[in-house]
Amino acid sequence: MQKEQQPLLEEYRLGDLKLKNRVVMASLTRGRTTNPELVPTPLMAEYYAQRASAGLILTEGVWPSKKAIGFINVPGIFTPEQVEGWKSVTDAVHAKGGKIFVQLGHTGTISHPDYFDGELPAGPSAINPQTRSFTPEGFKDTVTPREFTVAEIKETIQDYKQATLNAKNAGFDGVEIHAQIGMLIPQFLSITTNKRTDEYGGSIENRARIIFEILDALLEVWDSTRIAIKFTPVAISNVGIVVPDEFTIPTYRYIAEKLNDYNLAYLHIAGPAEALNGTVVEALQEDFFSHFRKNYHGTLMANLGFTQESGNAIIKDGIADLVSYGAYYVANPDLVERFEYHIPLAEANTDLYYTGGENGYTDYPKADYTKFASGHFGSDR
Ligand SMILES: Cc1cc2nc3c(=O)[nH]c(=O)nc-3n(C[C@H](O)[C@H](O)[C@H](O)COP(=O)(O)O)c2cc1C
Repeated sequence: MQKEQQPLLEEYRLGDLKLKNRVVMASLTRGRTTNPELVPTPLMAEYYAQRASAGLILTEGVWPSKKAIGFINVPGIFTPEQVEGWKSVTDAVHAKGGKIFVQLGHTGTISHPDYFDGELPAGPSAINPQTRSFTPEGFKDTVTPREFTVAEIKETIQDYKQATLNAKNAGFDGVEIHAQIGMLIPQFLSITTNKRTDEYGGSIENRARIIFEILDALLEVWDSTRIAIKFTPVAISNVGIVVPDEFTIPTYRYIAEKLNDYNLAYLHIAGPAEALNGTVVEALQEDFFSHFRKNYHGTLMANLGFTQESGNAIIKDGIADLVSYGAYYVANPDLVERFEYHIPLAEANTDLYYTGGENGYTDYPKADYTKFASGHFGSDR
């Protein structure tokens, strides 16, 4: 397939931003922020700049506040020093002609007392999410957390707003709210982890309220076309008690439809990682992304398990506008060029996903295009 026949390599207009192609680097937590202040480092700037040929880079999930912390060696964007650190990252990416959004994530109840001097983590309800916390001493079982007061919910929303202002000041092109399963927002969405009886619990509208209150707060500091959100509606394994239920489909339909009023940069959806047959969300198995395309009229970014071929196909078929790639980007900083010249993809060392300094991080080489410029190599999974 030649470049001109690859929808993935076509430009895309995202609000007032021009993306040079439709290949997006999905968020990848890499655990390289090994300083106690959680300030992004020059090594991180080098890593992101290496990947600047992507149409858009999404950073790893980043803490909007101290209370959001729940994994080790993950950077924040809530102190002046962190904002300065991020400026070096955004400058390095922009110098290479790239665009970069920061992903803002809050771990809520899956965090651990080890991060809060023994105090309990907090979230929608005092219910143990029954999964694992990634603590400085390794994985530990989650605990029964504390329930947020309404004042704390409002405070959390303000933390997202301040982090977005910080992102703007740090030179980012936009922000993506991290609402994948495991994180705070899906804890509010799920009937198993949200037993609140106030305006943040009960009905679908109430459980989803925090999303729209966060978005409304962000709109006070940035244009809607610089704001995005990422969901994994049907995660099944390793998700503790936040499993799909009879409310999952109507909940995400409600969210997608309501997001139509927001004119966001994009809606980012991760598809199923496994077959949904026999589950309560079986109806989404066929043409998963079409369900969102039908209900959501803005830019749709598709994720999870895409190859070069299936990424080109979903854009060509008009079902998604952008495709994000996660794991491929670990070992293929030049993924776009590899797609362009059909160069075989490099394999990542998964032992170095979350540790190893520059090893398994900035030391994956670019391919030698001169060898491949006229080649016809497949690069599929
Ligand atoms: C090492 C690693 C770290 C990840 N960290 C994040 C993260 O911080 N935020 C997020 O939304 N997704 C994260 N993901 C999920 C990816 O963004 C993506 O949704 C997932 O890998 C599926 O896409 P893929 O099949 O192209 O890899 C991570 C995935 C991997 C492999």
